[in-house]
Amino acid sequence: MAQLWGGRFTKETDQLVYNFNASIGFDQKFYRQDIQGSIAHVTMLAKQGILKTEERDQIIKGLKGILEDVESGKLKITAEYEDIHSFVESNLIDRIGDAGKKLHTGRSRNDQVALDMKLYVRDEIMQLDDILKTLLETVEKIMEENLHTYMPGFTHLQKAQPITLAHHMGAYFEMFRRDRGRLKDIFKRMNLCPLGAGALAGTTYPLDRAYTAELLGFDGPTLNSMDSVSDRDYLIELLSALSTIMMHLSRFSEEVIIWNTNEYQFVEIDDAYSTGSSIMPQKKNPDIAELVRGKTGRVYGALMSVLTTMKGIPLAYNKDMQEDKELTFDAIDTVKGCTALFTGMLDTMKFRSQVMENSARNGFTNATDAADYLVGKGVPFRDAHGIIGRLVLYCMERKISLDDMKLEEYKAISPVFEEDIYDAVSMKNCVERRNTIGAPGAEAMKVVIEENRRYLRKN
Ligand code: ARG
Repeated sequence: MAQLWGGRFTKETDQLVYNFNASIGFDQKFYRQDIQGSIAHVTMLAKQGILKTEERDQIIKGLKGILEDVESGKLKITAEYEDIHSFVESNLIDRIGDAGKKLHTGRSRNDQVALDMKLYVRDEIMQLDDILKTLLETVEKIMEENLHTYMPGFTHLQKAQPITLAHHMGAYFEMFRRDRGRLKDIFKRMNLCPLGAGALAGTTYPLDRAYTAELLGFDGPTLNSMDSVSDRDYLIELLSALSTIMMHLSRFSEEVIIWNTNEYQFVEIDDAYSTGSSIMPQKKNPDIAELVRGKTGRVYGALMSVLTTMKGIPLAYNKDMQEDKELTFDAIDTVKGCTALFTGMLDTMKFRSQVMENSARNGFTNATDAADYLVGKGVPFRDAHGIIGRLVLYCMERKISLDDMKLEEYKAISPVFEEDIYDAVSMKNCVERRNTIGAPGAEAMKVVIEENRRYLRKN
């Protein structure tokens, strides 16, 4: 048991208590950030004359040595330390002796852990942003290649109107673009440095908090020392944004799963991203998409868990907050992993355009256009709706589509129909004539694709 405290205790900590309390098992994940924060801290202490320059240099050299040895595997982070902060400090003292004991001057583990977590989250947000960008690039590529790949658009999972694959993918482009925007907002709002808040009430040392903040790339120091050590809002915001990303990935996964069924056959998932059955030789299952959909639950769980943990905590730091780490780490790793895998699956997936197009042809996805045709001939929309409804029924009884009807048959239902009805209900025209902003027509889609390209170049 290596602890940083114990002076006022007369008994050893009970082993079960020690284990229950310790966080080294998970907070070792931010050893890099812990060392980075300590280097900035001593740099500031020396600038303020609180440490001698030689002491600063010795400490920094020692800290960099620890970092190197951990990275190379020479130094193992073991359970004999209570947390990552104790690990680094004890190792420093072992290496450089008394100067190491000055590292923690004007600092508490409360502001230290608040800093470490922010530094870690900042790094992870940037990594996740890159992964999301790759996903967007993949979606954009599919859009560019499928401007004229017709497919049914659905409402209530019932065929509604024809669209294109580019248009369908475009909806996901919007979602993941908003997700990146959310991460950016969170980064900006959280980017204030808590170091120097001490345990809760600042310190009597003449710390230059603005300087430490600057050294660590923050926009400035936090402004209330109690809030600095007990603010976990940014984690809740992050978990909420991560949950939204998972919700989007899960919806997308659900569609891939449906499209991949024997009944739909809109797509074929690459062998490298599918799995087989131990008993049924014919099976090729979409396990990756299912797992992404399934893992959404644990990310939502992390959000609910941290929200619940925080709701009853009086100011300022309380040990409850240690619970934020495992949940946040797990959520971040899950989202990064799922996003990267999903991108790989999407990138290698085959879209069976002929099947999609045939599916759009059947199922009366052009019925609205037939009604609009009548409106164009002066029939009020409500009447047109009724006429086309009767027409659909007529076709269903004969198992034919609107395009298959003879002009006489049309005319028998309404004399308004002319030869140009065939043009109006041709699937190609139904899609290509929809060119208002955001609609599936190729002209409208080209504008969006160009805007997406511009966005990806700039962000
Ligand atoms: N392991 C602790 C955490 O994650 C670090 C802060 C400890 N502070 C304290 N006063 N015990 O929250």
